[in-house]
Amino acid sequence: MVSPMIVGNWKMNTTVATAVALAQAVKKRVGDSAGARVVVCPPFVSLAPVSEALEGSEIGVGAQNFHPAAGGPHTGEVSLEMLAGICSFALVGHSERRTEFYESDALVNAKLMAALDAGITPILCVGESFQEHETGIAGEVVSQQLRSGLMGVGRCSDIVVAYEPIWAVGTGQSARPEDVQAVMRRLRCALSSMFGDRTEDIPLLYGGSVDHLNIGAYLAQHDIDGALVGGASLDANRFCQIISQAGGLPSPHG
Ligand code: PGA
Repeated sequence: MVSPMIVGNWKMNTTVATAVALAQAVKKRVGDSAGARVVVCPPFVSLAPVSEALEGSEIGVGAQNFHPAAGGPHTGEVSLEMLAGICSFALVGHSERRTEFYESDALVNAKLMAALDAGITPILCVGESFQEHETGIAGEVVSQQLRSGLMGVGRCSDIVVAYEPIWAVGTGQSARPEDVQAVMRRLRCALSSMFGDRTEDIPLLYGGSVDHLNIGAYLAQHDIDGALVGGASLDANRFCQIISQAGGLPSPHG
């Protein structure tokens, strides 16, 4: 059983100034409490200043994207070498990148392998469409995405998996906790068949319209170890309420 993990994905929101202010507000509340692991993923331009603002805290920093190549003619892209020392996590295969930027399973796998090589923990995102959900094939779809994303990974490494049904992301229509649990069970089994038994150290996060009102119901499920939070991570107060329910804030009674 891993300690709960809450990851904030700020997407294409915040300026450098508001990102630093948000990070500082979260740091102030979270302190160095080790009850939950907390990570924030600001936009590229804010990664270094946010990482600096979070120095001295346990809050991790993650990139939302990167190019798998070491360097070269890739206009507009950012390599893992550039991120080294600034972040220790990176999102891979987020549905917005798969749909908006046509990231294929093969590219997602190449990015994941590159992140592992660079010593950055990939947060591999998988999730089914509304139609796939409706036809009852979510479990198959996400297990397949998991297998392709992790192809070639030889042993149970430092990875995080986030299950985010596409229809629940940014829609306010969160998935039913018991349905998420059923999918997580499949993911856990798929991980076990790939890596053997020692897969309980891989955190399984749920993402898709998580907020301070519904987080408790997800965390109560056996195979949900935390959450990947978009919209609600942009408000320090709401985000900290989520962290608090995951056990990550010092108790007011000391
Ligand atoms: P949401 O986004 O919480 O706004 O639905 C989640 C995500 O995309 O990671």
